[in-house]
Formats: sequence, structure tokens, C-alpha cells
Amino acid sequence: MHRYDQYDQTIVDERVAQFRGQTERYLAGQLSEEEFRPLRLQNGLYIQKHAPMLRVAIPYGLLSSTQVRMLAHIARKYDRGYGHFTTRQNIQYNWPKLEQVPDILADLASVEMHAIQTSGNCIRNTTSDQFAGIAHDELIDPRPYAELIRQWSTFHPEFAYLPRKFKMAVNGAREDRTGTLFHDIGIHAVKTASGDVAFNILVGGGLGRTPILGHVVYEALPKEHLFTYLDAVLRVYNRFGRRDNLYKARIKILVKEMGLDKFRAEVEAEWAHLKDGPSTLTQAEIDRVSEHFVDPAYEKLSAINAEFEKHQLESKAFARWVSRNVFGHKQPGYAAVTLSLKKTGVPPGDATDAQLDAVADMADQFSYGEIRVSHEQNIILADVKIGELFTVWQRAKAIGFATPNIGLLTDIISCPGGDFCSLANAKSIPVAEAIQRRVEEKLGDLDYLFDIGDIAINISGCMNACGHHHVGHIGILGVDKHGEEFYQVSIGGSQGLDAALGKVIGPSFAQDEMADVVEKLITTYVDLRHEDELFLDTVKRVGIEPFKARVYDRKAVHNVAEVTNV
Ligand code: HEM
Ligand code: SF4
Repeated sequence: MHRYDQYDQTIVDERVAQFRGQTERYLAGQLSEEEFRPLRLQNGLYIQKHAPMLRVAIPYGLLSSTQVRMLAHIARKYDRGYGHFTTRQNIQYNWPKLEQVPDILADLASVEMHAIQTSGNCIRNTTSDQFAGIAHDELIDPRPYAELIRQWSTFHPEFAYLPRKFKMAVNGAREDRTGTLFHDIGIHAVKTASGDVAFNILVGGGLGRTPILGHVVYEALPKEHLFTYLDAVLRVYNRFGRRDNLYKARIKILVKEMGLDKFRAEVEAEWAHLKDGPSTLTQAEIDRVSEHFVDPAYEKLSAINAEFEKHQLESKAFARWVSRNVFGHKQPGYAAVTLSLKKTGVPPGDATDAQLDAVADMADQFSYGEIRVSHEQNIILADVKIGELFTVWQRAKAIGFATPNIGLLTDIISCPGGDFCSLANAKSIPVAEAIQRRVEEKLGDLDYLFDIGDIAINISGCMNACGHHHVGHIGILGVDKHGEEFYQVSIGGSQGLDAALGKVIGPSFAQDEMADVVEKLITTYVDLRHEDELFLDTVKRVGIEPFKARVYDRKAVHNVAEVTNV
């Protein structure tokens, strides 16, 4: 994985020192609230419901075991013993004390981490595929490019104050596991006919208040032009983006209002000044960064391991876990393991200090000391020998990370919602828990849960869409109705290359109705599905009407009447 050079380390250390001074001056009353605000936001520090909230960047979701141990240490020493992994491959601490934040940042800097650009109207942490470098369907390893983008975007002098936040994702596989279609810029690394690396650049996607899927603005951009082209796109956005209206400030609105062709033409005009200039990406630079992402020293193993096969035959529980939480690896005899952070009753994405320490130990022992986090808010050990999967499973079970539910009904993606976030209309975490509990009560039979198959439930506590509710197969959105918390439900959303935005099924529901609603959606699907048809495909085939009919059929009439149009 990438290591800081002296430039990276120096800027991060200097930033810690600056922020220490700023915090001290603020606490001494020498800086006003207003003066301090942009300074703290530039270091990922929000003021939230109960306390400050610190968002720490995990570039493209990659961590070393040393870094994970430091995250555990921070959770233990400065917080309440846990951290929250987000849908953008960051980790958030909900309870740091303001006066201790400079110490936290210093601790982070000691392991090549920081909280710079995790907030504010700048280029945020760039995300990527959690299976980068190991996936069977990978065309190009996206990590060197994601790292080059990190270097290009950190403290980019021109793009520190964009009209609005700016999010990018890089994908290099046939399947898109990074949600490129709903990012401000999505990048697909592809191979040209002559075997060169090129990029399909997508622009103008985003969720939030106005969800829009991105469009290809440049197809097969030769790799040397990556940064001159990105500079051109950002310049056009910086110049024409709506600074006058917060709700129209994202690039998706600019692209929509301008039209893709006009936007492309503006970018081309800007690019004409930049193309082949000093920001042209050289092969030497790609090689320099790529060196950090060479394969670990894999052993030559057979793709078949007798012990592994035996364990699967002997333990149904292990076989189940393998079928959901283990992902194929390009290297024979290896596999990637997803540790589920979605145990019933635990807020999705939360991990305790003890769990993080245990994960770091597991990574050292079984996965070359490396850990990844996914935008689905789970943790991945990417390079496990299949002969060791049984031990890894047992170790994961011991820390509560072996729930065999990846991609299933209980692997719920959720923002922190009203329990922590001051922008929330409604709570998210209790809804996730109610659904998980209902599934366990009613479908306690795991076979049934497995039979229902892939379903993504995504929950956001407000229209900002931090829980990606628009692209959930079932999306749940917290809405405020006369000061009360309600939930709007959509179905049919999906991520991936054919990403779609879900359709709202009708009037919203009270919190205590949500488990019923989800249950009805599932039973409708079970009644209607063709053999082997997934929930999403049934929705695509029959539309939302049959689901709507069933969900509202037995619903108390007064609710339907009261809460229309939310
Ligand atoms: C202090 C807590 C948080 C605050 C104040 C906050 C604020 C916001 C706001 C205002 C937006 C809408 C931006 C826009 O449309 O211009 C947004 C979007 C988003 N946030 Fe958060 N957020 C918080 C926590 C989180 C968490 C915990 C996650 C992940 C679980 C997250 C991930 C996202 C994502 C994925 C989006 C959608 C991006 C898009 O527009 O496409 N945020 N957030
Ligand atoms: S979706 Fe709303 S409630 Fe949830 S974290 Fe984002 S801003 Fe907060």
C-alpha cells in the first residue's frame, strides 16, 4: 500500500501544528466562533448533536494494521470506545473533546492519516473498489490512479473553495462496486484495443436533494491526460457552478442546466489550454506510484484445499458464511473476506476499539497486514488463504463480525441519522434495528433469509442521502411531518453500471410501521417472483404497483390521508 513521502508527512505534520494553534486561540477566546468554523471544517471537525464529530479520511478505503490499531487507540482514549465507518470509506468519531482534537490529529499523523478535506467545499476523499487489485473481473487496478488523485487533490490550490463539496470514485473492474454513477466525477479505468489504460469520465452524478445519475463526458481518455482533463472539468464547475444557491451548487445541477453537450464543449475549450501542459501524467509517475501497489508475496497454492472443503461439508454455518462473506480472488488458493459490521442491534458501520484491534491482528496473521473498508460499511481482509478461512471465520465470530449476511436483507446501509446528526429529520439506527429484529423473528430460519437473496436496504435520516437511500433496492428516507418523524419508502434503486434511482411507493410511515412495511415488500416479492429471480428484477418486471397495493392495503387509513405529499 502507499506510504507517505517526506512531502506528505511534512504537510500533514504542519497542518496538525497549525490546527493546534488555532484550537488554542479559539479556546482562549482569541478567535471567534465564526473565525474558527472554517478552520475546524478544513480539518473534518463538525459540531453535531451531542459533541464535535471528527471525520477521518481513509483514502480509497485502504488501511494498514498499524493504522487500524491507531483508530482503535483513538476510539478508546478520546471517544466512547467506537468509531463509525461511513458510506464514503471514512471513519467518524462521535464524541471527541474539542481540546483533544489536535492530539487526535497528531496521533493520526504518526500513522500517515489525517482529517484534511473530509469536509468543506473541496475535493473529498476519493473512493474505490474494496476488491481492487484482487478481483477476477478487474481490468485495471484502480489504486495507483486513486492515489495519484489523492496527491493531485490534497491542497489543490485552485479547488479549495469550490461551489460545493466534490466527490470522486474510481473503478477498474467490469462490475462497478464503487457507485461511480452517483459521484460528481466517476472514473472507469478501461483497456483500449491496443492494451493501453484509458478512462471513461462520468460527470454530474450525485444523490442528496436532487438525485441524478452521471453521464459519460469523455470516453476512453488516454491516461496521460487524466489530470489536465480533471483540471478542465473542475475549472468549468468552479467558474459556472451556482454559488448563489446552496441547493443548486453541485456540479450535477450545472451539467443539468447547461446540458451535457454544452458542458462538454466548455470543458474542451478549457482543456485546450491545459492539454499536454505540465500536469500531463507521465509513465514514470504512474510507475512510481504503482510500485506501492504490487501484489504481496503470494504463495503458490492449489485452488482446491481439502481442509476447506471438509469444513464446508461439516459445518453448515461455515458454508453459509463462505457463500455470502467470501469473495473470489484472482490468485489461486486465496479469497477475500468481508467482515460484517451488521450484527442485529449494532448501528451499521460501528466498530469498537477491541474489534478494531482484533481486526488488525487478523490482518497481520492472515492478510499481509492490510485492511479495507467498503462503502457498504463493512471491513475486508483481501488476501486470505482458503486453507485459513475456517480459522478466520472463528476469529470473526469471536468479535461479532461473522454475521453471514453480506448483500442480504440485514446488511443494512445507514447514516447515523437523528441519534447523532443535527441535520436529521428522523432517526435511522432504530429503523435498521427494527428491520433486523423482524427479520430474525420472522425469518429466524437463515435458509429463508438466504433464499430471499440479494437485497440492499439503504436508510438516510434526511434528504442529504448520506445512507444512499436512492440507490437501495429498498430505500428509506426520514422525513419531517409537522415535527414528527416519518419515513418515505422507495423501491427499485440500484448501484452498479446500470444504477437506477428508486421510485417512491407512496405516503410515508411512522417508525413503528417500518418493519411491517419491509416485511410486506418481501412477502410480495416472494409471491410474485419467478424462480431464481432477485428482488430487484421482480420490481423491474412488475413495477411498483403490486408492492404498493400490498403495503397500503392493511395500513391504517388515517395515516395515508394525513401524510401524503411528503
Ligand atoms: C455530521 C454528520 C453529517 C453531516 C452534517 C452531513 C452532511 C451532508 C450534507 C449536507 C449532504 C448533502 C450535500 C449536497 O447535496 O450538497 C451530505 C451528503 C452525503 N453524505 Fe453526509 N453528512 C454527515 C454524515 C455522513 C455520514 C455518517 C455518511 C456515511 C454514512 C455520509 C455520507 C454522505 C453521502 C454518501 C452523501 C451523498 C453524496 C451525494 O450528494 O451524492 N455523511 N451529507
Ligand atoms: S442523511 Fe441527513 S441525517 Fe443522515 S447523516 Fe446525512 S445529513 Fe445526517
